[in-house]
Amino acid sequence: MNKKDLSIVILAAGKGSRMKSNKAKVLHHISGKPMLYHIIKTSQEISNDITIVVAHQKDEVIKEISKFFTNINFVTQDAQNFPGTGGAMMNILPKYESVLVLNGDMPLISADALSGFLNSNAQIIMSIFELGDPSGYGRVIIENGEVLKIVEHKDANKDELKVKSVNAGVYAFSSSVLKKYIPLLKNDNAQKEYYLTDIISLAKADSISIVPLLVDEEHFRGVNSKEDLAECEVIMQERIKSHWMREGVIMQLPNTIYIEESVKFEGECKVENNCRITGDTLISNSHIKSSSVIEDSRIIDSDVGPLAHIRPMSQLKDTHIGNFVEVKKSSLIGVKAGHLSYIGDAQVDEGTNIGAGVITCNYDGVNKYKTIIGKNVFIGSDSQLIAPLVVEDDVMIAAGTTVTAAKIQSGVLAISRTKLTIVKDFYYKFFRKV
Ligand code: UD1
Ligand code: CA
Repeated sequence: MNKKDLSIVILAAGKGSRMKSNKAKVLHHISGKPMLYHIIKTSQEISNDITIVVAHQKDEVIKEISKFFTNINFVTQDAQNFPGTGGAMMNILPKYESVLVLNGDMPLISADALSGFLNSNAQIIMSIFELGDPSGYGRVIIENGEVLKIVEHKDANKDELKVKSVNAGVYAFSSSVLKKYIPLLKNDNAQKEYYLTDIISLAKADSISIVPLLVDEEHFRGVNSKEDLAECEVIMQERIKSHWMREGVIMQLPNTIYIEESVKFEGECKVENNCRITGDTLISNSHIKSSSVIEDSRIIDSDVGPLAHIRPMSQLKDTHIGNFVEVKKSSLIGVKAGHLSYIGDAQVDEGTNIGAGVITCNYDGVNKYKTIIGKNVFIGSDSQLIAPLVVEDDVMIAAGTTVTAAKIQSGVLAISRTKLTIVKDFYYKFFRKV
């Protein structure tokens, strides 16, 4: 199929009331991106005429989606007067004769899974799957191998409710079929909505042939509730992790690992169980140990964790980060920070060792300040580095020091300690052991 021959319409104007959320359904995230993002990305592989129908929370939907895509058309549904999936199709002007209609709440569709809709000149192709529990879906009524109509769950009678063949919500129409039948849709049904699905019985009455296409649930299931959202997340995660394992990343207990679709790996990487890696992150030739969280950062030739938190805009190179270390908006090159530290708004250079419990005090309650640490600096355990601060190369900061100067020059020892006092027999007196 030539990309130029197909128009795609994605319905994303509905309220999604079953989500029980103030956020528009299609903006709920799957693997770090709005549900709608995934279906648009797939659509772009096969079409250059993509229209999103919006209405509910229109401004938010347009704003969010425009962050990721240009060259997308938005059309507003008059959802007040013409609610429903049929109403959503009323202002559409497709560029091409073939029109693929997708529901915005189907984030798992892939271009391959759509190929069956594209390689035919049928006037109408509709998608069907068989579900053990068909509740909520439109039932497809088939007689003598021919599709007669689709009955929505809320309009179905007792016998129709038993039908397990359901409408998956993807259709290929010729634009002439849409032009003819969309204006004929009525809202005389349980939900007082204009159902796109009624186009099937209208076309059938005119003897237009309707081609049913059996599709699989893994790609075509819709998200109506937060339970569906969680189930689709599992499938999307499996796909993302399988992809990276095929690319050579080692994952231990991959079912416990969460990796967003924007994350990239390079070279030989290993990710242990319970890790969460999100946002615009690159992991290159590195080892991420158990239960670590990495957000929007670059980790190169380094090891992180277990139980470390690398927060946005951090860059680690040739660096060792141990347990209970939090790094935020910092660049660490050739550094060791093995235990229990907070390193924020900092820049730390080669050969520097950050002892257990070291804290960059980067915030005074109003503003944030930078800490710049040079090469081969030894920072003793439990030191507080009060920013703004520059520590030059070759400095030793003694354990327990609070560094209040703005600059520590090369070659020195910085130490701040209260004198140790020894009180004889205090213990025995205090606990009345004498
Ligand atoms: C729809 C189908 C149903 C099918 C199911 C598959 C209809 C009438 N029913 O039901 O047969 O089994 O999908 O997932 O089409 N939308 C609009 N404008 C609206 C209403 C909805 O754009 O006025 C959009 C929604 O944002 C959503 C999509 O259309 O992305 C489907 O709407 P939804 O309410 O989820 O339809 P279902 O009840 O699931
Ligand atoms: Ca749906």
